[in-house]
Amino acid sequence: SSTKLLIKGGTVVNAHEMEVADVYVEDGIIVAVRPNIKVGDDVTVLEATGKFVMPGGIDPHTHLDMEFMGSGTIDDFFSGQAAALAGGTTMHIDFVIPVNGSLLSGLEAYEKKSKKSCMDYGFHMAITKWDEVVSKEMEIMVNEKGINSFKFFMAYKGSFMINDELLLQAFKKCKSLGALAMVHAENGDAVYEGQRRMIELGITGPEGHALSRPPVLEGEATARAIKLAGFVNTPLYVVHVMSIDAMEEISKARKSGLKVIGEPVVSGLVLNDSWLWDPDFITAAKYVMSPPIRAAGHGKALQAALSMGTLQLVGTDHCTFNSTQKALGIDDFQKIPNGVNGIEERMHLVWDTMVESGQISVTDYVRVTSTECARIFNIYPRKGAIRAGSDADIIILNPNSSFEISAKSHHSRSDTNVYEGWRGKGKVEVTISGGRVVWLNDELKVFPGSGKYVEMRPFSYLFNGIGKADAKYLSSLKAPVKRFRATT
Ligand code: URP
Ligand code: ZN
Ligand code: ZN
Ligand code: ZN
Repeated sequence: SSTKLLIKGGTVVNAHEMEVADVYVEDGIIVAVRPNIKVGDDVTVLEATGKFVMPGGIDPHTHLDMEFMGSGTIDDFFSGQAAALAGGTTMHIDFVIPVNGSLLSGLEAYEKKSKKSCMDYGFHMAITKWDEVVSKEMEIMVNEKGINSFKFFMAYKGSFMINDELLLQAFKKCKSLGALAMVHAENGDAVYEGQRRMIELGITGPEGHALSRPPVLEGEATARAIKLAGFVNTPLYVVHVMSIDAMEEISKARKSGLKVIGEPVVSGLVLNDSWLWDPDFITAAKYVMSPPIRAAGHGKALQAALSMGTLQLVGTDHCTFNSTQKALGIDDFQKIPNGVNGIEERMHLVWDTMVESGQISVTDYVRVTSTECARIFNIYPRKGAIRAGSDADIIILNPNSSFEISAKSHHSRSDTNVYEGWRGKGKVEVTISGGRVVWLNDELKVFPGSGKYVEMRPFSYLFNGIGKADAKYLSSLKAPVKRFRATT
């Protein structure tokens, strides 16, 4: 295969503009973007007239090869990434899970698991307990290991959950490192109470999962996290925003000038909770994730919020289990491994639901599926752009072609797909990863080990002005009042 590529005659789309142009690629890097590029016959030419040439998708939220709730996710760094590439995603950021609380051991394990990668990837670090050792390890992650974001859990009481005191300490630590604090925002104490209530009522099926953790608990935790991050003046990234309640808190905070990022995931945008009532256990259990997939109005509101910029980028929370693993919770919804698929479907579903329906423009599509993620995690314009000097992670999308989703044809190893039977308009016909054509004519050509680890540096644009704001706040405080005791 050639290391020189010319994509001819397509409409090149970036987050802020589009133009008809050719894209010339050499050795994995975009060399030129302009009309009528002439090349020799040693160059592979891909015809793209009438099609969109866009930065490959970047999925900010995945869980590949993760041990969770007594199970291992079914997709590893090879199968999950192969699925991603077949759906037009060329990079993802996965959550490293510490080993016995140790970030270093956790990272070591993920470095091994990710050796078989066939596309570029980065890491967030999940924090599953908080103490001085972890705090020190965070410094190493940021300064030496290329990790600039940490996820804290306000849910999963008894395992990952940390309380407000520790959350504040963690936020302060993130701020001092220039690292982005992320939260799983659900009130874990109240979820626990909700679960007890369901069991007392004899509701042990998958519907009990959603009923035990309603939107109000997501809204409360989101508001609390936003206020605590605002109190120490550090940016906050809310992962998997699933409800109107959480979205409205993010909207309010952003209007007041706080640096809050909201990430809806595809399942929350396009699915609804009608599955709750399905009498077949597996059919219902395959939709179990946290926070839960909500009643239909929530998804529609999240779509509107995405179109208005209240929410900024779309993830998947890709975390797949097969039917036999989901069946672990047959007698108790609390034992159903949480998680759904999406890494292969995200680009198609966002196009179909948001662009094809007229809710967002093609340039906004690039922003919410790729560019904004690159900017937030400080890897723009190496990633998230079609321009000279950027990595050649490129897709060609045909707006007049259609796609269909099924577990029978998807590339994930899971035996189920929560988007089973979905048909839509707009198909990713070509995926180019690191300058190589890996997806063409519905055929995948991927090689384990070809993907690169992308290091992410601290102090992204979100940190601009933070120091100044602190100084202004401190100088606004009055000097201590000199008091005296009145004598009589
Ligand atoms: O249900 C989910 N979301 N599983 C993955 C873990 C998490 O909280 O993101
Ligand atoms: Zn631009
Ligand atoms: Zn989470
Ligand atoms: Zn997740």
